[in-house]
Amino acid sequence: MSKKFYITTAIDYANGSPHLGHAYEKVLTDIVARFRRLMGDEVKFLTGLDEHGQKVQMSAQKEGVAPIEVCDRLATEFQGLCTALHISNDDYIRTTQDRHKAAVQDILQKLYDKGEIYKADYNGFYSVRQEQFVTEKEKVDGKWPEIYGDVVEVTESNYFFKLAQYQDWLVDTIKTNEQMIYPRFRSADVLQFLKEPLNDLCISRPKERLEWGIELPFDSDFVTYVWFDALTNYITAAGYGTDEFEQHWPADYHVIGKDILVPPHAVYWPIMLKALGIELPKHFLVHGWWLSSGSKMSKSTGEVVNPLDLIDQFGADAFRYFVTREMNVGQDSEFSIELFMSRYNSDLANDLGNLVSRLLNMGGRYAEGKVPAAEIEDTPEKELKALWATTGAELIPLFEDFQFHKALDRIFTFVSGINRYAETRAPWKLAKSEAAADQAALRTSLATMAEALRLAVVMLTPVMPEISNKIRGLIGADDFDRLEGQLEWGNTLEGKALGEKAILFPRPERKA
Ligand code: ME8
Ligand code: MG
Repeated sequence: MSKKFYITTAIDYANGSPHLGHAYEKVLTDIVARFRRLMGDEVKFLTGLDEHGQKVQMSAQKEGVAPIEVCDRLATEFQGLCTALHISNDDYIRTTQDRHKAAVQDILQKLYDKGEIYKADYNGFYSVRQEQFVTEKEKVDGKWPEIYGDVVEVTESNYFFKLAQYQDWLVDTIKTNEQMIYPRFRSADVLQFLKEPLNDLCISRPKERLEWGIELPFDSDFVTYVWFDALTNYITAAGYGTDEFEQHWPADYHVIGKDILVPPHAVYWPIMLKALGIELPKHFLVHGWWLSSGSKMSKSTGEVVNPLDLIDQFGADAFRYFVTREMNVGQDSEFSIELFMSRYNSDLANDLGNLVSRLLNMGGRYAEGKVPAAEIEDTPEKELKALWATTGAELIPLFEDFQFHKALDRIFTFVSGINRYAETRAPWKLAKSEAAADQAALRTSLATMAEALRLAVVMLTPVMPEISNKIRGLIGADDFDRLEGQLEWGNTLEGKALGEKAILFPRPERKA
C-alpha cells in the first residue's frame, strides 16, 4: 500500500463556539487537501476537537453539567461548521474517543517503561487559563501578564517527561531540516525559544485538581496534561498501533496557527516522537491570525466573528474565497465586513458573476444556446491567450508554495482580461452585422470567452468547489478529478450546451 498524503488541522478547544480563526484554518487545510487530490495524491485529511483540560471542566461546572455534555454539544457545532464550509475531511477525532485514550495510555506506558518519565515534587506558579506552570521571570513589571489569567502558587507531586536531554538534538534537527517549518522565518522563533535551557515537561495533573482527562496508566491518581493528550491525536487517527499507521505516518503537514507552534508543536511534539522512536512529521504549515481592530480574535476575549452568519448570507464559497484571497499564509490579516463586502461585490458579483451571466445571455441570443466554434485568431484572441499562457503557468507553483492569495489575484486578473476581451470584441455589436467576417468574429468571441472561463475556473476548484462545478455545468465543461491537461487552452467546449442565465452571487438580503 502506498503512503497517503496526510494533512491535519489543530484540534479545536471545546471551550467555546467556532469563530473565524477556526473556520479559516479548516478552509486553508481543505484547499491543500483538495489540491493534492487533484494532483493525484491519495489524501487523508484529519480535523477534530480537543476535549480535555481545566477550561472544559470549568465551563461544565459553571453550566452545572457533565463535561462530556459540553463536548458533545461543541462537537456538533464544530462538525456543523465543517459541513457548512464544505470541508472534505476524511476523519474527525475527538480526544474523548476510546481509540485516542488507548493511544495516549500506550505511549505514556512506553515512555514510562523506557525511563523517560519520572515523578518529582514541584512547587511553582500555575496559570489556570494557559494550563501550564509559569516562572517568575515571565512577570512583567512585577505582575503576571494578562494572558495567564489567574496565577496560583501550588506544591504537588507530578510526573515529568525528560525534555531537556533532547535540546541539542532538537536544535540540530530544526537547523538542518530547513523545509520543516513554513514559512521559513518561523524557524527563528523556535530557535530563539531553544536558546534558553529547556525544563522537563510536567505531563500530569493530580485528580483532586483536574479530573477531566485521560488517566495515567501507571498512576490512577493523575490525569494527563492536556497538550500531551492533544498532540497525540495526530498519531491516534493515523492508526497508531495498527497496520494502517505506515500508510499515513509521517504526516505531510500539520496546519496550525502561529500561537501554538512554540512550544507545543515545535518542541514537545518532536521530542515526544523522538523518545518513542517514531518519525517526525515532515512539515508544519503555520498561518497567522485573523485580527479584529488590531487584536487576535479569540474565545477568551469575545472579539469574534461568527463564520456561520457570513456563510448563511453569502454562501460557503464566498467565505472561502474571501479568507483565502485576503490572507497571506503566515501573516496576520484584519477582518472587517466592509472588506468582505468589497471583495464579494467587486471580484465575485461583478467580475466573475457578470462574466458568466453575460456569456450565457449572449450564447442564448446569438448562438442558440451552444458554444460555437472558434474560427479566427486575431489580436484580441492572441492577447487573451498570451495572458493565459503566463497565468496558467504560474498557478500550480503558487499553490505548491501556499501562495493562494497570489494565485487568486492572478486568476482574477485573467477574469478581468476576459471581460476586457468581451468589451473589445463587443459581440453585441457584431451580432447586428450580416457580414460573414463579423459573424465569424461573433462565434469566435463566444467560443473564446467560454474556453477562457473554463480555464479560469480550473484552479478556483480547490478554493470554491461548489461555484466552480456550477460554472462548469453552465458552460458544458466536464468535471474532473485530476488537474492533468485541464490548464491547456483547447476547443473542448465546441458544441456544448450553455445553461440558462444564472445569478451566482446574489446581492444579500440584509438580516435584521
Ligand atoms: O490551540 N486567527 O485550540 P484553539 C487564526 N486545542 N487562527 C486562529 C485564531 C485567529 N484569530 N484563533 C485561533 C488550540 N486560531 C489547541 C490545539 S492541537 C494538537 C491543539 C487557530 O481552539 C489556532 O492557532 O485555541 C489553532 O491552530 C486553532 O485555531 C485552534 O485553536
Ligand atoms: Mg487558542
